[in-house]
Amino acid sequence: MDKRSFLKSAGLLGLGTMTGTSGLARLIESVAEIPSAELAKDEDFWKQIRADYLLKPDYINLENGYYCILPKPILESQIKHLREINYQGSYYLRTIQFDNKKAMAAKLALLAGCSPDELIITRNTTESLDIIIGGLDWKPGDEAVMAEQDYPSMLNMFRQVASRYGVVNKIISVPNLPVSDEEIVNLYASAITEKTKLLMVCQMINITGHILPVRKICDMAHTRGVDVMVDGAHAFGHFRFTIPELNCDYYGSSLHKWLSVPLGSGILYVKKDKIRKIWPLIASGETNPDSINRLNQTGTHPVYTDLTVTEALDYFNMLGAERKETRLRYLQHYWTDKVRNMPHIILNTPADPARSCAIANVGVKGKKPGELGDILLKKYKIYCAPIDGANVHGCRITPNVYTTTEELDVLVRALTELG
Ligand SMILES: Cc1ncc(COP(=O)(O)O)c(C=O)c1O
Repeated sequence: MDKRSFLKSAGLLGLGTMTGTSGLARLIESVAEIPSAELAKDEDFWKQIRADYLLKPDYINLENGYYCILPKPILESQIKHLREINYQGSYYLRTIQFDNKKAMAAKLALLAGCSPDELIITRNTTESLDIIIGGLDWKPGDEAVMAEQDYPSMLNMFRQVASRYGVVNKIISVPNLPVSDEEIVNLYASAITEKTKLLMVCQMINITGHILPVRKICDMAHTRGVDVMVDGAHAFGHFRFTIPELNCDYYGSSLHKWLSVPLGSGILYVKKDKIRKIWPLIASGETNPDSINRLNQTGTHPVYTDLTVTEALDYFNMLGAERKETRLRYLQHYWTDKVRNMPHIILNTPADPARSCAIANVGVKGKKPGELGDILLKKYKIYCAPIDGANVHGCRITPNVYTTTEELDVLVRALTELG
């Protein structure tokens, strides 16, 4: 069945709801032959994806960066797992809990392109990266390299490590609109000395959506003998890559941002030969220094979140990584291309499609980000994230797969009228 007949037969043109992942499977079957660049512009198709989300009518949600709400089939799966765990109780926790968690981690490792021996499920990026920052065997005078645009939780952990062990933190500032990869690589290179032990870099800077040339930064750092930890909070499930192709040593991400796993789920990747370098933040009973399970002591926690990884991955794979990435990039360029050259607009995200995906940050000359955010919410019913710091002054705009171009038209009208 082709897409048009599918939508017609289901009575779905513009109005209907998809029911469970089988609805998604049938919809995807109807568009299987359509190239992703063409499908990215097909509002009928994406309205069917939107029907999987229960959206609050009070505002247009363009703040899917902190957390993106779950599509209904995944939410229902989480509730199903919660009921089952509540039914089985301690029996579940004492029997197959750990095997199941390992099985979930193995599925995530498949998407990440790494060995299951190198990846664990954590609660979020903060936990993943702080395990590394706090777990290295720091000595007084050791140095770490990072950027002022990095996420505060990690910068705070580096501050603690500096106070505790006498580590020196070297903080660079990444330009919002670089002219080349080399400009960024050289910036990181200039902060490295013979004392540098760890370099942290964001795969996508959260306040601007700027994708950094991580592979080139890792290669450069390795030639200087420095390990690299990548903050992939906004990358995993957003755009396509594998962790090994980044050539990093440590990698952390949150699954509740772009992979539609329920709140409180993340991953930590540690390259096999680096595992023994890390002291666990919370000690476990695992004594093998090369086992990543040594770093995975969580105590008792909401295991139904981990179990929902299965359905979230099924949903993601069914929708298709390429279709998703292409639509997200299309949505961002749909609005940024219309406003970028307006004289009163400051776009804090590079124009090059390879340097961004769904997220972009926009400022209006003469308006503080908080003021702009207030106007967008009160006058135009747009909810977004104002950012005012680290050389970024503007509102972060984060659509997701359920966002429509009509909603982005409201944003474009608002930004135009603010001129
Ligand atoms: C770049 C970056 N790193 C780390 C985090 C922390 O993620 P979490 O709160 O899920 O631990 C975020 C959250 O937005 C982020 O944007």
